Amino acid sequence: MKIAIIGGGNLGTAIAEGLLKSKFCKAADIAITKRNISTLKSLGDKGVFVTSNNNEAIKRAELIILAVKPFQVAEVIAGLKKDITAKHIVVSVITGVSLNDLDEMLKKKNPVFRAMPNTAIAIQESMTCISHSNTTAAQVQFVKQLFETLGKVTMIEDKLMDAATVLGACGTAYAMRYIRANIQGGIEIGFDSVTANLIAAQTVKGAAELLLQKGTHPEQEIDKVTTPKGCTIAGLNEMEHQGFSSSLIKGIATSYNKIVKG
Ligand SMILES: NC(=O)c1ccc[n+]([C@@H]2O[C@H](COP(=O)([O-])OP(=O)(O)OC[C@H]3O[C@@H](n4cnc5c(N)ncnc54)[C@H](OP(=O)(O)O)[C@@H]3O)[C@@H](O)[C@H]2O)c1
Repeated sequence: MKIAIIGGGNLGTAIAEGLLKSKFCKAADIAITKRNISTLKSLGDKGVFVTSNNNEAIKRAELIILAVKPFQVAEVIAGLKKDITAKHIVVSVITGVSLNDLDEMLKKKNPVFRAMPNTAIAIQESMTCISHSNTTAAQVQFVKQLFETLGKVTMIEDKLMDAATVLGACGTAYAMRYIRANIQGGIEIGFDSVTANLIAAQTVKGAAELLLQKGTHPEQEIDKVTTPKGCTIAGLNEMEHQGFSSSLIKGIATSYNKIVKG
């Protein structure tokens, strides 16, 4: 399937790079656009079709990925309208634009997908939540496989997209703050910042991989490192007395309320 990425910024470029690296499709099957195409030179050198003409890009594509900023989407879709056919599969990665919004803007009952990746898409380690409407099983399978080349994927209902934004996309920032606190603690107990950074980041990566690869619950893994009367449980309990889990849950709820209530 030929793919047109409209909006070759951070996310659009990361998607194109990931598709090429994973060999999901050939460079010649990808078109990518932005108004100032000078920043897309390296993709052009790899054989990707680079243009500032969105209409030209979608005419040669079966699947369109919209990756412009939220305030640009209406104008971009209006400009594409004469060339979008009902057969085009439209995938939007634009925050805050629902499947209904897309349907109303497109007006052609296209198969539409909404994807919420996170910044780890740049290294093909994204968590991407996807909702869809007017789609066939084959189209869902194709879009799922596309994003699986860029990390892990879960299909969700569109009404959960705000929650996905918080847990999956804001979640990267929450994890960074947790790692940063570990680095600060590590320096206090004797490490230089570079060594503390390495130990903290790799330890968090390893902990996450244990859950992903073994399918265990965090508490099962905690049980394995908490010796009775030991240092781990003493530290953990002190963190909880200081409101560790509660502050995280409240932070997640606050981010969610900010999206939903403004
Ligand atoms: N970054 C993330 O991790 C992330 C995660 C989830 C969702 N998102 C969503 O993804 C979208 C893109 O985010 P981003 O970080 O990649 O933003 P970005 O770097 O600003 O990319 C948007 C790109 O759209 C291009 N553009 C603007 N108007 C255009 C037009 N008329 N035709 C073609 N291209 C046009 C811009 O380039 P020119 O000015 O040169 O045209 C720009 O490079 C946003 O809606 C964001 O909410 C991002």
